[in-house]
Amino acid sequence: MGFLSSTVAPLFLLVSLASATHHVVTVGKGGQLKFDPETLVAVPGDTITYNYFARNHSVTQSSFDKPCQPLVGGGFFSGFVPTESPDIASRTTFTITVNDTRPIWVYCSQTNGNHCQSGMLHAVNAPTQGNTFSAFKDLAAKAPTSTSPPDGLPVGGLRKTTVDVGLDGNLTYSPNSINEPPRTVVEFSYNPRNHTVTQSSFDKPCFPLPNNSGFSSGFIATTQSVPGLATFELVINDTKPIWFYCGQVNGNHCQAGMVGAINAPAAGNTLDAFIAKAKVAPPPSVIPPVAPLGGRVFVEGVEIVKFNLNGGNAIDVDKILGVVPPTATATRTATGTATGTVIGTATGTANGTGTGTSTDTGTATLTTVVPPVYYTTKAASSVYYNTWDTSKPVTTVTVTRSYGYGGKGQWKPKATQSVGEDCEEESEKGSWGYKGYGTAY
Ligand SMILES: *[C@@H]1O[C@H](CO)[C@@H](O)[C@H](O)[C@H]1NC(C)=O
Ligand SMILES: *[C@@H]1O[C@H](CO)[C@@H](O)[C@H](O)[C@H]1NC(C)=O
Ligand SMILES: *[C@@H]1O[C@H](CO)[C@@H](O)[C@H](O)[C@H]1NC(C)=O
Ligand SMILES: *[C@@H]1O[C@H](CO)[C@@H](O)[C@H](O)[C@H]1NC(C)=O
Ligand SMILES: *[C@@H]1O[C@H](CO)[C@@H](O)[C@H](O)[C@H]1NC(C)=O
Ligand SMILES: *[C@@H]1O[C@H](CO)[C@@H](O)[C@H](O)[C@H]1NC(C)=O
Ligand SMILES: *[C@@H]1O[C@H](CO)[C@@H](O)[C@H](O)[C@H]1NC(C)=O
Repeated sequence: MGFLSSTVAPLFLLVSLASATHHVVTVGKGGQLKFDPETLVAVPGDTITYNYFARNHSVTQSSFDKPCQPLVGGGFFSGFVPTESPDIASRTTFTITVNDTRPIWVYCSQTNGNHCQSGMLHAVNAPTQGNTFSAFKDLAAKAPTSTSPPDGLPVGGLRKTTVDVGLDGNLTYSPNSINEPPRTVVEFSYNPRNHTVTQSSFDKPCFPLPNNSGFSSGFIATTQSVPGLATFELVINDTKPIWFYCGQVNGNHCQAGMVGAINAPAAGNTLDAFIAKAKVAPPPSVIPPVAPLGGRVFVEGVEIVKFNLNGGNAIDVDKILGVVPPTATATRTATGTATGTVIGTATGTANGTGTGTSTDTGTATLTTVVPPVYYTTKAASSVYYNTWDTSKPVTTVTVTRSYGYGGKGQWKPKATQSVGEDCEEESEKGSWGYKGYGTAY
C-alpha cells in the first residue's frame, strides 16, 4: 500500500505543529553580560521567553548590520527590567513568538556599561556561514553607543509580571508594590481561601471605583496553591498609580492590609500611606456586583467569562475543576478506658496514592468520637491535598497514635488536640507546603 507517499504531506504538517517549542533564555544570569543560550534554532510557532537577572537589562531587536540600534521599521523591545538578584529571575518576563525562519538579531540596550558592545547579544536562526553570530558580535564590539526605542515601552512581544494572591494563607499580595510600564500584563495568581483583586482610589481603600469604572476579579475561592491555576490578568494602560484591595469581608482582608499598588509614587501618596488608610477604612468592604471587570479570569488556562454561571461575582475553583472530596471510609475500635470509640484503623487514600492505616493505642478520654475522615481529592492538574472534615462536632482527644501512610502532606491531630486547634503535619509533607486547618473530633 502507498503508505509513505500518501502520508508524507500530512505527516509533515503534524511534525511542524507538534514541534512548536517553548524556549527559555536567561538575560544577565550570574551577573554576566550575556544571553544564555546565545543562539538558538527555532521554527515558526515557537515561543521564546526571556528571564531577567540583575541588574537592568532589555531585550531589543536589531538588524545584523546595525547591532546596538533598534530595528528600523519596528522590531520587538521588552523595555528595561531592573531587578536585584543575579541568581533569582525577575517576576517580569518577555515572550516573543517566532513567525518565520529568518534570523532574529537581539541585543541589550543598556548604555550604563555598554552591554551591547560588551557582547550582550543573542540570535535566533543565525546562519552558520556569512552573517554568523560571531560576525554580529564583531560588528557590535565596534558599534557606537546603543539606543532603545524612544518611547521606552515594550512592543512586539508579551511583557508579563506575576503577583501571588494570599500566598501561604497570608492576607497579602506578593509583591504588594510593582513598577511596570504600560502594556505590561499583570497576572494575579490565587492561593487558598477566597480573595479578590479590586481597584479602588487612593483616598477610599476597600471600596471600588464608582460606576464599575475600575477592575475587579470577583471572589475567587480555591483550596489549591498552584501557581497559575486560577488567575486574573489585566493590562497596564498608563503610568498613573493603580490601587487595589481584597474585598473579602469575612476577616476584613482589606483592613488587615491586603492591599497593593502598581506604580505607586515614592513620596506623598505612597503605598504605606495607602495601607494606613486601609487599616482605618470602615468595614464592610465592597466590590462591584459583577465580575470579571477590566481584566480576564482563567482557571487552568480556560477563560471564565461568566461567574456563578449566571453572572454574579464569585466562583469556586474546586467546583469548576470538579474537585469533589470523595467519601473516604474509616473505622475504629477502642481499647482502654475510652468512654467513646477511638482506637483502631482508619483506611483511606492518602495524597491520592497511598492506602494508609492508622493504629491508635492508649487512653481515650472523650465521649463521642467520630472517626477521622481523610479526604483525598484530585484536581485536573494532578495535585492532591488532604484535609480534615471540619463539619463534625469537636472535643478533646488524648490518644497515642501511629500512622503509616504512603503519601505525603498529611495532617494528624496532636496527642492532645483541643477544639479549633490546627493539626500537626506529618513528617513527610508535600514539598510546596500544606497548612492544616483541620480539627480533630
Ligand atoms: C534601567 O535602565 C534604564 C535605561 O538606562 C533607565 O532609564 C532606568 O531608570 C533604569 N532603571 C532602574 C531602576 O535603574
Ligand atoms: C510575530 O508577529 C507578531 C504579530 O505581527 C509580532 O507582534 C511579533 O513581534 C512577531 N515576532 C517577531 C519575532 O518578530
Ligand atoms: C506569611 O506569613 C508568615 C508569618 O508572618 C511569614 O513567615 C511568611 O514569610 C509569609 N509568607 C508570605 C508569602 O508572605
Ligand atoms: C455614575 O453614573 C451616574 C449615572 O450615569 C452618574 O450620574 C454619576 O455622576 C456617576 N458617578 C461618577 C462618580 O462618575
Ligand atoms: C486598561 O484598559 C482596558 C481596556 O479599557 C481595561 O479593561 C483595563 O482594566 C485597563 N487597565 C487598568 C489597569 O485599568
Ligand atoms: C467567597 O466569598 C464570597 C463573599 O464573601 C461568597 O459570596 C462566596 O460564596 C465565597 N465562595 C466560597 C466558595 O466560599
Ligand atoms: C503528594 O503530593 C505532593 C505534592 O503534590 C507530591 O510532591 C508528592 O510526590 C505526593 N506523594 C505521593 C506519594 O503521591
